[in-house]
Amino acid sequence: AYISFDSSNLTKFVHDNELGEMQAMVTAADSELRNGTGAGADFRDWIDLPTNYDKDEFSRIKAAAKKIQSDSEVLVVIGIGGSYLGARAAIDFLNEAFYTALPASERKGALVLFAGNSISSSYVHDLIHVIGDRDFSVNVISKSGTTTEPSIAFRIFKDKLVEKYGEAEAKKRIYATTDRARGALKTESDAEGYEEFVVPDGIGGRFSVLSAVGLLPIAASGADIDKLMQGAADASKDYTSDKIEDNDAYRYAALRNILYRKGKTTELLENYEPTMASFAEWWKQLMGESEGKDQKGIYPSSANFSTDLHSLGQYIQEGRRNLMETVVKVDKPNYDIDIPKEDSDLDQIGYLEGKTMDYVNTQAFRAVTLAHTDGDVPVMAVHIPDQTEYSLGYLIYFFEAAVGISGYLNGINPFNQPGVEAYKVNMFALLGKPGFEKETAEIQKRVQK
Ligand code: PA5
Repeated sequence: AYISFDSSNLTKFVHDNELGEMQAMVTAADSELRNGTGAGADFRDWIDLPTNYDKDEFSRIKAAAKKIQSDSEVLVVIGIGGSYLGARAAIDFLNEAFYTALPASERKGALVLFAGNSISSSYVHDLIHVIGDRDFSVNVISKSGTTTEPSIAFRIFKDKLVEKYGEAEAKKRIYATTDRARGALKTESDAEGYEEFVVPDGIGGRFSVLSAVGLLPIAASGADIDKLMQGAADASKDYTSDKIEDNDAYRYAALRNILYRKGKTTELLENYEPTMASFAEWWKQLMGESEGKDQKGIYPSSANFSTDLHSLGQYIQEGRRNLMETVVKVDKPNYDIDIPKEDSDLDQIGYLEGKTMDYVNTQAFRAVTLAHTDGDVPVMAVHIPDQTEYSLGYLIYFFEAAVGISGYLNGINPFNQPGVEAYKVNMFALLGKPGFEKETAEIQKRVQK
């Protein structure tokens, strides 16, 4: 496979026969996934999405991205959960650490900024402030078309567009990504004539990064979405075997399931590149929403190294032993830097002269892996060659394939998310949403106590 999965540091935690014992379960889970006999079978279209997608829409995405780049310096992407995490992860992964602060002439495409992923009024104010008088467009993304956070943000940015460009031009600057047929956003888009893109039926929010949901913002940012899809397509061909020894994504899924059953109930996704912090946020939704139900599942968390070695590092080394770690290590950084020579050695790092920063970063990774293993934390590593579109597409598919079977290994439906609704009912009741009169009356009694 193009990326390598290293589980060689697990010998202390998992015996060879344990992995062998998992084969029958993995084969069963793979069959449920591929044949659609498992729970949530209607949401498996991500499996062949990298090759089986709407090619006409893909061309429209590229054309829309070009138009956005030509008439807008900023693209405001409005969405929450699965409707923004993938795009943000990809754009951060594929750009320089400070790309938002670069002048427009030095960016690859539009400056993509996100809204509608919280209900913070200060955040929206600050976003409007930073856009200033720059030209902008809006991509509003919501599968249901009725999610409160993006709906509020969309109203506000629609107003701003109309204020700046007038009604007719504003409509040409709005791109709506939503369900093919249903929902308030679909109704509005049809009525107003926004350019529309589709969140495919058989793809849940957390699996939607390689659909229009992720692709339009990613393309607008200047990234090559052909290469992104190619990486995922190649991974979809490389991770087809149900045999643990031939399928690294399944080996990862099996190992973390074994570790989970030994009490390693929290998994940290880690990186040594700050531009990968958002990737972990995408991964947390993918894992957490897929696996955390029926009062079980690995809790997905994350850490950024070496930064967090100076904070969380203490807990990881010596706190409760319920942790496992998965490092995504970039083998070749975008840029490497020599450690400068100095005549005096007042700072006492002269022994590093002639070495590069990335050499030190990699030794930190090796040192941490050994220290945490000694501290009884199992450490797995996924090595990616570089931070390119192709590698990202491949990596995305690796984790999707793993989580696809891991829900079945743990006896739950990996493709639903009933738990994200509970707070919404309370919030609608408190806000007095029409249709929630009974809940409003009940919740008023509870909050008055
Ligand atoms: O995974 C999910 O279903 C959620 O995180 C959704 O993506 C999120 O709630 C946004 O939903 P929608 O796209 O319908 O606005």
